[in-house]
Amino acid sequence: MRTQVGIVGAGPAGLVLSHLLAARGIESVVLEDRSRAYVEQRVRAGVLEHPTVELLRQHGLTERLDREALVHRGVQIAIDGRRHRIDFADLTGKWITVYGQQEVVKDLIAARLATGAPILFEVEDVRVADVVTARPAVEFVHEGEPVRLACDVIAGCDGFHGICRPSIPPSELQVHDREHPFAWLGVLAKAAPTTEELIYSRHERGFALYSMRSPEVTRLYLQVPPDEDIAEWSDDRIWTELTMRLPTTDGFELLDGPVIEKSITGMRSFVVAPMRYGRLVLAGDAAHIVPPTGAKGMNLAIADVSVLADAVEHLERTGDESKLDAYSATCAQRVWRVQQFSWWMTSMLHRFPEHDGFQRQLQHAELSFVVHSRAAATALAENYVGLPFGRLYPEEAP
Ligand code: APR
Ligand code: PHB
Repeated sequence: MRTQVGIVGAGPAGLVLSHLLAARGIESVVLEDRSRAYVEQRVRAGVLEHPTVELLRQHGLTERLDREALVHRGVQIAIDGRRHRIDFADLTGKWITVYGQQEVVKDLIAARLATGAPILFEVEDVRVADVVTARPAVEFVHEGEPVRLACDVIAGCDGFHGICRPSIPPSELQVHDREHPFAWLGVLAKAAPTTEELIYSRHERGFALYSMRSPEVTRLYLQVPPDEDIAEWSDDRIWTELTMRLPTTDGFELLDGPVIEKSITGMRSFVVAPMRYGRLVLAGDAAHIVPPTGAKGMNLAIADVSVLADAVEHLERTGDESKLDAYSATCAQRVWRVQQFSWWMTSMLHRFPEHDGFQRQLQHAELSFVVHSRAAATALAENYVGLPFGRLYPEEAP
């Protein structure tokens, strides 16, 4: 089997890349080790930045999103029970779109299959071979048969636990890794949201986030200890804790309802560089993860592949690798900007077990300033709605 680009992973990174390449006349094969049903149902985050939606729209991928997604012109930040609003539209002229990642994934899969382009689900034993040559290959088993997919470039879009990053010799990679001293318990509930916007809530008992998926479904998160056992969290306990941590003093109403899904995710900041080894390039969670407080994971993955698609197009057209050589450095500015933003949001909103009263007062002072100062609120808004794709600061050396 032969194609131009072998894409490992059918998450947002791999699927968006396949569409961007197709729009440039470049063939690819997407390989996914899970089933179609599994990837379409996996519950993840759900905030799309302004540039993410623009890119999807340019590629004709927003038909259902334009009908069903929720446009949010701001977010709310609750400090110890009292809400403040950050008005994105006023501060930046842009806004965000709330649409579950699995809905994005469903739309991307349907649009690709409708063109007859391949996505192979439930592939097994995926390995990459000959990546330091101009003819790399992905080897895997499909429907019981071993397959060798020869290509020009392999895109490692297989997430944090995939096989692509570990197949690069560790001596070739610089790794930055931080585990944070808490996790998020995420809940999807059949309950009508009672606000039009997300609420990020800082509270002495720990952080809570009020989000939504549709007029019928609320998405909620609670900060919990990193090694927390989900069995400790009955639905009753979850609602009681949410009631305590979400706003109380300003007429906010929390509607409860049947819990459809709940899970606990650890919090980590991770960056690997360079995002390339020979003809194997990494994109999205395979190369970096951010704590979810800034809602950036999926957006950063899509920003990566927007750069990658141009680099691959240049290689395919001219045989010249210079854009591929620049790929990692081009992405790095945005990767670190987003790391910093995600860390900043995390640090302002969570309760840190090791913090003393002095540090808690500093944290409170910082968050109060953000919600009261137009300049500080603008900095939050500008990052939240999403900085432009591509190189952020062209004059800065990589
Ligand atoms: N072979 C093929 N596919 C694999 C393999 C493998 N060995 N290992 C993992 N995969 C698949 C996963 O099942 C998943 O569908 O790769 C895909 C990776 O997708 P994501 O984890 O969604 O990562 P990415 O596309 O980079 O999306 C960015 O942002 O919101 C965050 O973490 C969240 O998933 C989100 C990410
Ligand atoms: C979500 O709706 O899942 C969500 C929203 C904002 C975040 C993280 C997750 O920061």
